[in-house]
Parts: sequence; structure tokens; C-alpha cells
Amino acid sequence: MENQSCNVEPFGLELDVDLRIPLDEAAQERFRALFYREKLLVFRNQQLSEADHVRVLGYIGPVLGSNGEYREISSDGNLGTGPLCYHSDLAFTTEPFKVLSLHALEVVDGQSWTRFANGIRVLESLSQESVDRLQSMTAVSLISLVQTHRDIAYSAPSYLPQVERPAIIPHPVTGEPILYVSEMQTARIGDLEPAASEELLQELFASLYADENVYEHRWQNGDLVIWDNLALQHSRPDLTHCIPRRLQRVCVADKSFFDLCPLFSLGDQRVSDWASGKVLEVE
Ligand SMILES: [Fe+2]
Repeated sequence: MENQSCNVEPFGLELDVDLRIPLDEAAQERFRALFYREKLLVFRNQQLSEADHVRVLGYIGPVLGSNGEYREISSDGNLGTGPLCYHSDLAFTTEPFKVLSLHALEVVDGQSWTRFANGIRVLESLSQESVDRLQSMTAVSLISLVQTHRDIAYSAPSYLPQVERPAIIPHPVTGEPILYVSEMQTARIGDLEPAASEELLQELFASLYADENVYEHRWQNGDLVIWDNLALQHSRPDLTHCIPRRLQRVCVADKSFFDLCPLFSLGDQRVSDWASGKVLEVE
């Protein structure tokens, strides 16, 4: 498989394979190993039904069922047309999605993009002193009402989805260290006061989202991109004039958003109050 590949800059691998043809077990194992080595795989000119797409992601791990999940994202449908700043899906839960993928069903070739920032690679660009300091810190990921740009509360009521974990986490499969803080979802760094926390986060974002640490994928019809949702964060631009833009979406995960955040499916009044701005911060 690797002899039909070329590097994507600054990270990732493009593979020249027709994924409609099922892989045998040995090839599936190579596919999985390649994915976890690269964290981002690109395939061009694919024509994958939803079942094909699910089969391909199944080479990496168990695919999330379609119940309550978006299997298609379109610029005139769900999730709106606004930009999404950098994030990792479900970072504010104990089980963020493991692997995400999008397949371009109908787009204007080259019109829109998804950008990917690498939380492993960025650590090489930081000083050893900064990495050592981060090793002892935690970061709080919180569900954010605002997704177009960074606008997140420093703290929020405890019933809202949020998780405090080390700022640098080990990759669950490879063990590689990942800087796991994001523009959209990181509310604060550990115990730092608001101003100091924000200053440190902005410094980290400058390195994370620097051009040399970002792959921009310009969507063409038939593209399939598969990426690691822990090692990489993703963002998209304003899609207001990007029509059509239909992308088929399949994830590797054990639990859905509603499994992990039942308050949202139950229509909990506290969530509505928070969403309407009645509750902004806690003590
Ligand atoms: Fe996302």
C-alpha cells in the first residue's frame, strides 16, 4: 500500500487506492498501522457509499452507529454555514471521538477547506522548558456555545459537559504525547488565574495553528480524508457561499454525543438557561 503513496505537507499521507475494493485482513492491519503512524490519510477520486465508508473506517476501529449522529454535513443543512474554529470533537467529554472522516459527495472543486493542526508535532517546536512546565499542568475542556471563534467561559456550572485532564495527554494507541488544548474548547489551564491562563493558551495557539503545523485540505469531489481526532484538531471557514457542499461523515467512537451528554437529549432546563445566557459563569 505504501508504494502507492506520497507525503502530504506538512504531515499526513496521500494513498492511491480504490477503496471500493475490500482489503484482506493483512492489508487492513497495514492500513490501521499506517493511519496511526501518519494520523491523517487522504484518498482522491473515491466513490464510496455510506456502507463502503463505514467498512473503510472499520479497518481502524468500531464505527459509531448512525443513531443520533450526523452522517452527512451540508452547507445548507445541519451545523449551519458558520466557520468553526479549531477543536477536537467531544473534547469536553471523557471519551472524545477517536477517528473522524469526511468524504466529498458534492462540492465545488477547490472552493472550501478543512484545516488540521497537529498536537503531537507542535511539541517539537516548543522549548524543553515549556514542555516540562506543561507536563505538570492540567487543562479544562468545556462545551462552548460559540463555535465560530474563541469565546469561552473561564468556568461554568458543573452540570455542563467539561473535563479536566493533563494539558499533554498520551495517545491511547501509540503513546505519543499530544498537546491537547484548543481554541474553541479549552476554558482554562489548571489553576492559573484568568489573565495568565489566557496568555499561556494564546502562546500555545500561536504554535499549534502556525502555517508550518497546519495541513489545509481543499475539497475536491471524491476526496476522502481520515484523521485522528486526538492528535489533530480541525477547523473550517465560513461556508455561506459554498453551495453545494455535501460531505459524508463517519466516526470511530464507542459513544455518541447524546450518550455522553444525556442532559442535552433530555431537554434539561439548566441547559436551556445556560444556552439563553441566563447562566454564564459560576462562583
Ligand atoms: Fe468537528
